[in-house]
Amino acid sequence: MAPISDADLNNNSQQTREYPKNGVDVIIVGTGLAGLTAALECHRKGMNVRVFEKNDTINTAGDMFFMGLSSTVIFKHWPEMKKEFDSIGLHDAYIETRKHSGEVMVPPMRVRDRLAAQGLNPSTPPGTFQMRPLIYKMFVKQVERIGIKVQFGKNVVDYYEDEETGKAGITTKDGEKFEADIVIAADGVGSKSQRVVGGQVRAIQSGRAMWRAAFPIENLDQDEEVKKTFCMIDGSKPIVRTFLAPDAYALCLTRPDLMIWIMNHNTTGSEEENWNNTIDKEEVLEHMEKMSGPQWAPVFKKLVACTPKDTIINFNLLWRNPQPTWTSPKSRVIQIGDAAHSFLPASGNGATQAIEDAISLATCLQLGGKDNIPQAVNAHIRFRFVRTACAQKIGFSNAELLQETKWDQVKLDPKKSVPKMPKWIWSHDPEIYAQENYAKSLESMKKGIPHDADDSIPPNYPPGYKFEPWSIEQIIEDKNNGRETDLGPGDWS
Ligand SMILES: Cc1cc2nc3c(=O)[nH]c(=O)nc-3n(C[C@H](O)[C@H](O)[C@H](O)COP(=O)(O)OP(=O)(O)OC[C@H]3O[C@@H](n4cnc5c(N)ncnc54)[C@H](O)[C@@H]3O)c2cc1C
Ligand SMILES: *[C@@H]1O[C@H](CO)[C@@H](O)[C@H](O)[C@H]1NC(C)=O
Ligand SMILES: *[C@@H]1O[C@H](CO)[C@@H](O)[C@H](O)[C@H]1NC(C)=O
Repeated sequence: MAPISDADLNNNSQQTREYPKNGVDVIIVGTGLAGLTAALECHRKGMNVRVFEKNDTINTAGDMFFMGLSSTVIFKHWPEMKKEFDSIGLHDAYIETRKHSGEVMVPPMRVRDRLAAQGLNPSTPPGTFQMRPLIYKMFVKQVERIGIKVQFGKNVVDYYEDEETGKAGITTKDGEKFEADIVIAADGVGSKSQRVVGGQVRAIQSGRAMWRAAFPIENLDQDEEVKKTFCMIDGSKPIVRTFLAPDAYALCLTRPDLMIWIMNHNTTGSEEENWNNTIDKEEVLEHMEKMSGPQWAPVFKKLVACTPKDTIINFNLLWRNPQPTWTSPKSRVIQIGDAAHSFLPASGNGATQAIEDAISLATCLQLGGKDNIPQAVNAHIRFRFVRTACAQKIGFSNAELLQETKWDQVKLDPKKSVPKMPKWIWSHDPEIYAQENYAKSLESMKKGIPHDADDSIPPNYPPGYKFEPWSIEQIIEDKNNGRETDLGPGDWS
């Protein structure tokens, strides 16, 4: 069968293009967005896919996250998902910025208008806020539709590879073993694959945590003032309201069905890096009272008071340096998503980069074929490492922007209160990038040219950037000395 070109694929963009079977056996561990995307894309690219998940069932918990255009471009190959994605998204959304006192600093503005004013096409925004439960169910349905069975209740405790047989494998808590040509570790932060890749980066306390809550909008009926303040625009258009305090920030999203609020705050002692870690609203209200500086708007506290029981999660925000490696010595086990790189929420990139990883890896594995798996894995890492390390760093400078807002500048330029979402991130298509640059990257790999010095390949990171290992320690030191996060050379805008 003739190879399928990018042009064929793009001309045929509404079709789920199935590639011929290539005999590559893949094991995927974890059913987060990274694992599910890997399952879909590896299947579409002709591989045999098996998926293992620790929990007994799918976990539709969570509230909202940002999904970048570079991750959602893949829906062009999945028409059912595209249709659902278009229907569950926010339509004609607005955005507003306030001080935490409640004072409106930038009045409600249509997201479309804001994009147009920035010279961007409003019908392909750089990204959108999405509800995790809805997006997640959409992925699960697609996985079921194509007949991939997820094996639940398989707690993977170890990963291994066998150089002689060219296989990789997993061991579950019950002592079962499963093997394949390649094992994709998509088991999130604290992945059990850390041992086989040669160690774990340390998670460092940032001193910050996030309260997060999503609940049916009817709960606002309890309080007229809350209902009025957090209403939709013209009764039907969703709105994201940002509240910025000297040392904390909150985002509130009002949708037709749901109210979501999240607040970044100093740690209180009850936070955990766990999406099940609920706390009582009384605890939140107590801590809001105790925060230093001017008080939060009473109506915000009333919003917290309207939140149903067992809803508010106190999520610990941990910092991690870029990991030195994502793969086992013989490149048969590869980490993707949060297992490879975790993000601060302010980066707006956790879900996006996880999905991009899965697309890039599936593309490289298809291009390499069964006989070249280690090579494909290493090409994938070259395409991904500098990019994700840069996206991680953006989380730090965005957090500064949100926690230390310079209101005099915001008045002049509302963009100064909006997290950075640069063009090099959203204008990327991880599938086409891998297809166009795979052969060139293999050549450069042979010559020992690093990806960010490879003039034959366009950058998918800030143009002009050269990777230098950076560390959280250095960012903390800069912060303690009153310096902004040093992003490094290149065009980060
Ligand atoms: C329940 C849940 C709710 C979330 N809610 C939000 C949210 O509201 N906002 C937001 O910004 N981000 C949220 N996230 C995080 C966000 O989805 C991820 O940061 C991002 O999408 C990257 O996903 P991932 O697939 O790499 O990792 P994850 O989404 O963490 O998925 C990892 C998967 O691996 C499974 N797993 C872990 N260990 C093992 C093991 N030993 N054996 C087998 N399977 C294992 C986990 O059960 C999970 O299904 C949530 C994640 C989860 C799991
Ligand atoms: C979190 O909740 C899910 C779904 O209710 C459950 O399957 C899982 O075991 C819980 N995880 C933890 C760490 O408590
Ligand atoms: C958060 O903690 C820092 C450092 O301990 C402190 O200076 C600051 O006042 C606290 N902020 C709030 C809002 O309480």
